[in-house]
Amino acid sequence: MKAYKIAVIEGDGIGREVVPEGVRVLEAVAHRFDLSFSWQNFDWSCERYAKTGRMMPEDGLEQLRPFDAIYLGAIGYPGVPDHVSLWGLLIPIRRGFKQYVNLRPVRLLEGITSPLSGRKPGEIDFVIVRENSEGEYSEVGGRLNRNTEDDIAIQQSIFTRRGCDRIIRYAFELARTRKKHVTSATKSNGIVFSMPFWDERFAAISKQYPDVKADQFHIDILSAHFVAHPDWFDVVVGSNLFGDILSDLGAAVVGSMGLAPAANLNPEREYPSLFEPVHGSAPDIAGKGIANPVAQIWTGAMMLRHLGEEQAAHAVEQAIFKVLASSSVRTRDIGGKASTRQMGEVIAEEVSASAGVSAR
Ligand code: NAD
Ligand code: IPM
Ligand code: MN
Repeated sequence: MKAYKIAVIEGDGIGREVVPEGVRVLEAVAHRFDLSFSWQNFDWSCERYAKTGRMMPEDGLEQLRPFDAIYLGAIGYPGVPDHVSLWGLLIPIRRGFKQYVNLRPVRLLEGITSPLSGRKPGEIDFVIVRENSEGEYSEVGGRLNRNTEDDIAIQQSIFTRRGCDRIIRYAFELARTRKKHVTSATKSNGIVFSMPFWDERFAAISKQYPDVKADQFHIDILSAHFVAHPDWFDVVVGSNLFGDILSDLGAAVVGSMGLAPAANLNPEREYPSLFEPVHGSAPDIAGKGIANPVAQIWTGAMMLRHLGEEQAAHAVEQAIFKVLASSSVRTRDIGGKASTRQMGEVIAEEVSASAGVSAR
C-alpha cells in the first residue's frame, strides 16, 4: 500500500467547507486504489493571525517540508488586509518551495452551461500555465512620504531569464502532450522593458519546439478572445498577473469559480507542491454551506496525478464529470440547491460505486 503524508491548510471562509469534501473524495479513492493518506491539519489562517499576529509560525515552511504535498483551501478574510494574509502564508509557500508553475485547466464539462451562448462541452479545453514566482508580484519597491500630499508608491516587476525560460519551456512540454499549441500572453506594446523581454524568451524557446505551434496576443485582445474564441486555445502561458486574471476569466467562461482547479508545482520535486483551487475564500457565501466543492475536489485529482497516482486521479475526474453530467445534486452556482456536503458526498459515492465497473 502506498502511503502519502499530506499537510492540510483549510485556511479561511469557504476553504473550511470545501476542503473536508476534497478529503472525503480522496479517502474514497484511496480505499478503492489501495492507497493511504495521513492528513495533518494546520490551522494557519486569518483567525490565527487575529490571535497570534502571524498567519503561520516562523518555522512554517520547515514544518511543511517533510510532507508529500500540501492541500489548501483559500486564504484571506475581511479584517486582515489581503496583502498581509496572502504575503504571510500562501505566497511565501509558493516562493519558498519554488512552485514556479501554476497550472490551471479550463474545461467546459457536460451538464454545465457556459455563459457564452452556444458553446458545447469539448469546445473549450485548454490549460493556463501561469508563472508563479516572480513578475508583477514582487517585494521590490517602497513607499515614500506616506500619508502626505506627496505620497508615492513604487512597485517593481521582476522578469528573469531563468524565470521566463522555465515557465515557457514547461508550457511547450505540456503542449507536446496535448494539441501542440502554445499561446503567449504579452503586453509588449505598452510595457517597454519586461514584456519585450518576455517576447524574446518566448521566441527563443519556441524555436526549440518546431513541432508545436506558437502564437501570441497582447493581454487586452487575448481577454476578448477568451470570450469570443475560447476554442482557439490549447496551452496559454502568461506572467504571474496576466495568468491570474486569465484564470478567473477562464473559470467564468466554463461556468463557475466553483469548478476551476489548480496546482502550484515544483516540477523538480525538491519541495512539496501545493494544491489549491483558483477561487478564494468567498466571504460573501462563507458559513452557509453552499459553496461548490468541485474545484477543490478536482484539485485533489491534480494532486494525485502529481504523486504519480494517475489511475486514482482519473477516477476522481471521471466521478466529477459523471455527477455533473447526470446528477440532480448540484450547488447553487451551477443551477441547483444542494449543499457543499451533499455535492461532496455524491462525488465520493460515485468514486466508490464505479469501483465495481472498472474491476469487471
Ligand atoms: P473569490 O474567488 O473568493 O470569490 C469571487 C466570487 O466567486 C464570489 O462571489 C464567490 O461567492 C464566488 N465563488 C468563489 N468560489 C466559489 C465556490 N467554490 N462556489 C461558489 N461560488 C464561489 O474571490 P474574491 O472575492 O476576490 O476574494 C475573496 C478573498 O479570497 C480575498 O481575501 C482574496 O484575497 C482571497 N483569495 C484567495 C485565494 C487563494 O487563497 N488562493 C484566491 C483568490 C482570492
Ligand atoms: C490566486 C489568487 C492569489 C494570486 C492572491 C490571493 C494573492 O488570486 O491564487 O489566483 O493572485 O496568486
Ligand atoms: Mn486569482
